[in-house]
Amino acid sequence: MSKLAILGGEPVRTRPFPTWPVHDQDELNGLIDVLKSNEWGSTKGQRVKQFEQHYAEYHDAKYGICVNSGTTALYLALKAAGIGCGDEVLLPGYTFIATATSIIDTGAVPVFVDIDPDTYNIDPAQIEEKITDKTRAIMPVHFAGRPADMTALLAIADKYDLKIIEDAAQAWGSEWNGRKVGAIGTAGCFSFQSSKNITAGEGGIILSNDEETAQFARSYSNCGRLANGVWYEHYYLGGNYRMTEFQAALLQAQFNRYPQLKAIRDKNALLLDAHLSRIEGVKTMKNDPRVTSNSRHIYIWRYQKEAFNNVPKDKFINAMRKEGMYISPGYSIPLTVQPVLKNLAFGPRGKRVDIGIDYASVSLPETEKACYDEAIWFTQNVLLGTEEDMLDIVKAIVKIQENSKDLVK
Ligand SMILES: Cc1ncc(COP(=O)(O)O)c(C=O)c1O
Repeated sequence: MSKLAILGGEPVRTRPFPTWPVHDQDELNGLIDVLKSNEWGSTKGQRVKQFEQHYAEYHDAKYGICVNSGTTALYLALKAAGIGCGDEVLLPGYTFIATATSIIDTGAVPVFVDIDPDTYNIDPAQIEEKITDKTRAIMPVHFAGRPADMTALLAIADKYDLKIIEDAAQAWGSEWNGRKVGAIGTAGCFSFQSSKNITAGEGGIILSNDEETAQFARSYSNCGRLANGVWYEHYYLGGNYRMTEFQAALLQAQFNRYPQLKAIRDKNALLLDAHLSRIEGVKTMKNDPRVTSNSRHIYIWRYQKEAFNNVPKDKFINAMRKEGMYISPGYSIPLTVQPVLKNLAFGPRGKRVDIGIDYASVSLPETEKACYDEAIWFTQNVLLGTEEDMLDIVKAIVKIQENSKDLVK
């Protein structure tokens, strides 16, 4: 029983965990080729178009439309699916802010549904009670890379004639029952922002199997032009949301390396599952057999403070950091109490727009528990480490548990 590092003892490790992003000569060659080509934008170059094709094919989607971020992808996909003013869109309470703001930007209203604590995805059993005659779509998030229950969601969407816009921002190549997510609903949206497992610093893509949705998404991303239309003819209220050729060059290299890195993340996540599930007070997430592939953007587990002498989550995290761990508490508050939602600050310069909802009073007990008490994240860069790195994580948790009474003195 060694003394905890936070109390002056030796830390479990001092070596850093792997950093992200990674690159090699492929990224360098791609960037230099674009630079020399003088075709830096996608209106002339071919790299964005080629990446769109490769990425869509890999996900068994007919169409791919690259844009400048995952946030943009969500916003344009909603608009392209026909969502707009006054419509209601269902989404989980535990997600990144863009899932909600993209809905508000279209003029629609986000309606929050609590999460299933075993997956941190939208709980299908709680969806129907939130459906009204204004509900037009569900926006499930494949959180951390673990697919939402698409079987249940498709059945609900079918019953109530709803669109499904998948927030697959964290789920490149994840599969539900053998089908790649992002290509199951009306449209799916991915992010290539710098923390993501495939990154160009920023970027996003919309996938769809629906021709009309894809055509509108393309037009909205390209100033409202038509696919083979005239340069100075603008038909819809779009914008310039295009991706650059530099981004596409980086993305193609990252995408080519993806399977190799995914295999390392998979191996380490399974190793962690096996070891952590044996520790009292550590709840690993459910491995549903219908999840046939998981991008493992974040390795999540649920901290049970009762098994750690009631040491609260934030204190446990500080102790882990002092032991040399790369660890995150994740989202610190539910989206519903974010100032923009709590204050309905949707108008110009944050002006309140009263839409008749008091977001702060929406009850989402599982989301709250995840934010305040239980969710612990290891981000994907940690999963790129060695077996020894993973065993250090296990050692640190056990060490803190064995010495947890020292943290409550
Ligand atoms: C679940 C989720 N949705 C949407 C986004 C938005 O993507 P971006 O940061 O590329 O705009 C992110 C990423 O940050 C995300 O994690």
